[in-house]
Amino acid sequence: MGLTTTEAPFIEVAREQGALYIQQPYELYSDSNHLAWAHLYERMHDRWLTYANQHFLKGIESLCLDPTRVPRLSDVNRFLEPLTHFSAKPVSGYVPAFKFFDCLRNREFPTTITVRRLDQLDYLPEPDIFHDIAGHVPMHTDPAFADALVRFGDCAHTAAELAASISDEQERMRRLTSIIRAMARFFWFTVEFGLMNSQNGLKVYGSGLLSSYGEIKHCIESPQVQRFPIQLEWVINQSFEIDHYQPLLFYVEGFDHLFELVDQLEKWMREGKLDNVAPGEPGVNAADLASFAEHS
Ligand SMILES: [Fe+2]
Repeated sequence: MGLTTTEAPFIEVAREQGALYIQQPYELYSDSNHLAWAHLYERMHDRWLTYANQHFLKGIESLCLDPTRVPRLSDVNRFLEPLTHFSAKPVSGYVPAFKFFDCLRNREFPTTITVRRLDQLDYLPEPDIFHDIAGHVPMHTDPAFADALVRFGDCAHTAAELAASISDEQERMRRLTSIIRAMARFFWFTVEFGLMNSQNGLKVYGSGLLSSYGEIKHCIESPQVQRFPIQLEWVINQSFEIDHYQPLLFYVEGFDHLFELVDQLEKWMREGKLDNVAPGEPGVNAADLASFAEHS
């Protein structure tokens, strides 16, 4: 069985035991897991050269990933940590929102260790190691991008702190829901699906795009995609759907620009501007809400 997405007994046991932070049992990867990684990496490579931003390309080089084998997280971290003090931290599955952002604040990136099925390379029932290590982690080698992620973590702490000051339980939950929704939207349209302006036109830095063979091309070339300069007031009120190619994307001018936006997000949160964002997707689940409330 190996460590295949939704089919890995090792992961099922960890989840049953409530173990979120785990080890990467490298010997469990099967030949078909390694082959899936090799195929994914091989077909993505030329597309990265065409569509990815230069910080990503530099990052993927400095991580020295083996194109033919599933990466060992300890190897990845050996190259990553000296650059930005970030590290990839193996997890058994979904990390509730507050914990996720808190990890970023500590320069740890919760990382899935399973690999998608070899016979379904384009189907992702949940994130896998290719999305996390090939899509996200190369960006973490860039100091300005890494700082923006840490600032996201600060936002989560601010949200919990603000919530703690509201005595009415119902009102506290209502505001937290709105703030978490705003943060999730902002994260989605930047870290997961962001574009960046460059001298050579728009390039991709969002990890959802960087790890998708079809969408990385579609998002830049298709006339069906709307691409706008990012505006914070738009993004926090904009719903999105996760089950198809994104029809609406936003671009930043660079990672200093991204950092300024996250900084602004935190200020707006303090000013109460995130307390009533437009309803709609994404939903805020009970685990996300509880993770913030616990830290209030
Ligand atoms: Fe992601």
